Amino acid sequence: MKILAIESSCDDTGAAVVEDGRTVLSNVVASQVPEHVLYGGVVPEIASRRHCENISQVCQKALDDAGLSLKEIDAIAVTYAPGLIGALLVGVNFAKGLSYSTGLPLIPVHHLRSHVASNYLSAPDLKPPFLALIVSGGHTHLVEVRDYTEYRVIGQTRDDAAGEAMDKAARLLGLPYPGGLNMDKTCSGGNPKAYHFPMPHVDGSNYDFSFSGMKTAAINLIHNAEQKGETISVPDFGASFMHSVVKLLVKKTGMALRATGAKQLVIAGGVSANSVLRKEMLALCKKNRVKLFMPELRYCGDNAAMVGAQGYYEYLAGNVADRKLNAIASMDIDKK
Ligand code: KG4
Ligand code: ZN
Repeated sequence: MKILAIESSCDDTGAAVVEDGRTVLSNVVASQVPEHVLYGGVVPEIASRRHCENISQVCQKALDDAGLSLKEIDAIAVTYAPGLIGALLVGVNFAKGLSYSTGLPLIPVHHLRSHVASNYLSAPDLKPPFLALIVSGGHTHLVEVRDYTEYRVIGQTRDDAAGEAMDKAARLLGLPYPGGLNMDKTCSGGNPKAYHFPMPHVDGSNYDFSFSGMKTAAINLIHNAEQKGETISVPDFGASFMHSVVKLLVKKTGMALRATGAKQLVIAGGVSANSVLRKEMLALCKKNRVKLFMPELRYCGDNAAMVGAQGYYEYLAGNVADRKLNAIASMDIDKK
């Protein structure tokens, strides 16, 4: 089954053709980074406008790269939640128009489910059940993936997402957007013990995260240094911050692995590209004798290939939309 998949939840306009949820026939991403970098972050209105301008050509290129015409496509999948509402609406309405004019089934895909599915693209042997750590700009979730469309959230952030915290710390250091990515590039060789960031104590659920304390500590460290006329070492500060964020992610993931007895761990989302996280997760899984799956770097950030992968399993589960499908800014991954 060949699915034309569309992604427009944030600032990347993506289209891809994916066969049977596993084989990528094409994957096109029009990035808006050069424009948003001027503002230090994503400007939602600009993102929506650029999606409108790009989406037609991006979809046509995905078909051309796959060497297929629309007649050879079996279904259309689209990210419909969660994300920037104006951005999501562009993809959803384009997909609805295509579905209406071609008569092809329309498959709504949850953004976080598609991040998890990015792992199916590189690991043909990966099948649920497994534990997933989803770390992106907007979400930090520990999820039991019981089946391809069945989830149980066991932990999540109480405040900032891991990517959001890294973006903020990077901005304080004067690194350009996207901060997490540039912090990884600039600081991975720095001394991770040079600066101290507090580990949070989260009441209640053992598996919840909190990054706002680390973020506040970063702000205070920089302000104090400025007031005293001291210079901050960007590589050391960045390395220390990344290691603190990763330490918390590894600690909670390790606890969840032991409690659930999971034999497979999947990491997903933009922050899963982080070099420190990938290294530490390998060590954690080796220690716990758990099989680790990480998306290829090209599938960590937002892309449509992962939407095509998850779309296939949503279709098999009967999750097909009618033309009333709407975009939704916020939605739990386990919503039925
Ligand atoms: O999944 P994603 O592309 O978009 C959302 O769904 O949010 O994730 C974007 C986030 C941003 O915070 C970005 O800074 C972060 O992923 N990111 C990284 C790296 N690459 C992207 N964070 C740390 N290290 C990286 N190598
Ligand atoms: Zn994402």
